[in-house]
Amino acid sequence: MRKIQVNASSSYNVIIEKDALLRVGEYCLDALGGTCRVCILTDTNVAPLYLDKVKKGLLASGFDTLEFIIESGEASKSTENLVRLVEFMAENRLTRKDVLVALGGGVVGDLGGFAAAVYLRGIRFVQLPTTLLAATDSSVGGKTAVDLKAGKNLMGAFYQPTLVICDYSTLDTLDAEVFSDGCAEVIKYGVIGNRKLFDKLQNGIAAQIEEIIADCVQMKADIVEEDEHDNGKRQLLNLGHTVGHAIEVCSEFEISHGRAVAMGMAIISKAAYKLGYCKKEDVEEIIALLEKEGLPTECPYGADELFSVATADKKRAGDEICVVIPFGIGECRLVRIPVSELCGLIAKGLE
Ligand code: GLY
Repeated sequence: MRKIQVNASSSYNVIIEKDALLRVGEYCLDALGGTCRVCILTDTNVAPLYLDKVKKGLLASGFDTLEFIIESGEASKSTENLVRLVEFMAENRLTRKDVLVALGGGVVGDLGGFAAAVYLRGIRFVQLPTTLLAATDSSVGGKTAVDLKAGKNLMGAFYQPTLVICDYSTLDTLDAEVFSDGCAEVIKYGVIGNRKLFDKLQNGIAAQIEEIIADCVQMKADIVEEDEHDNGKRQLLNLGHTVGHAIEVCSEFEISHGRAVAMGMAIISKAAYKLGYCKKEDVEEIIALLEKEGLPTECPYGADELFSVATADKKRAGDEICVVIPFGIGECRLVRIPVSELCGLIAKGLE
């Protein structure tokens, strides 16, 4: 078992432990300081696997539970579901003393966190991530959101959880493709600032899962402590994401987030090499590791197509866009470039 403290605007623990869901009641009691009513948000994939376990654990520790189940998939991260969930909590008279528990992957965590942020101007919430992506990235750091018609994550808040419990035995039930989506985010951590982690990943991610999740969460905790509101260093976590988001949109979300980010990292690394920022061997190592974890590195779209979508990205600031550039493995920097140069940069990465 590993416990990592995140010191953001509020402090909380991330517990990383095999079968931690069996102790969910005990951990919640400790972090919340007493019993209360708990609204468990989960989805149609996760509910049959883990909802009973979580409910039983909470009930055994004296919590009173109710549940709200959404369809699995990105389409559920909607304003409609946000309103339905908040209405549900209101109809059930949840008070400011009560808690929302988000049991699932990134969609459940982001939607649940945002509902907790706005219901009664803020109730506490607990993240129980069940995917590698949620365990290593989205459940930690307080980015909560829903999607709008104009784009992903356009309505949200920075709102920190009270506790994160990562039971990594839940990763055993993931499809290989969903697991490898999370591997893209894990590899990202190695590339942005941790050569030691990157080297460790060569020995296989699944085989060292507890240690690897802990390394990623510790990096995220350090970054969030320094830049909770995403004004500087936190933007490094967007490596491969500007192009990755454009790939997701071009594919009408047929290409998953992790796969798109893998392609985005490959493109930006190749461009960085062509512009003389990093070595050819760095690019080869990044691409080899992505491919080893079953991730794609060739993109089916052209530079013009990706550029026109990427310039609608929320990371754009006026006529400039901030791009995360690898200067080596374990060393990325934020580089602000004129928007007009982005197309050329993407084209270099696609050559
Ligand atoms: N997932 C990127 C961030 O939390 O900043």
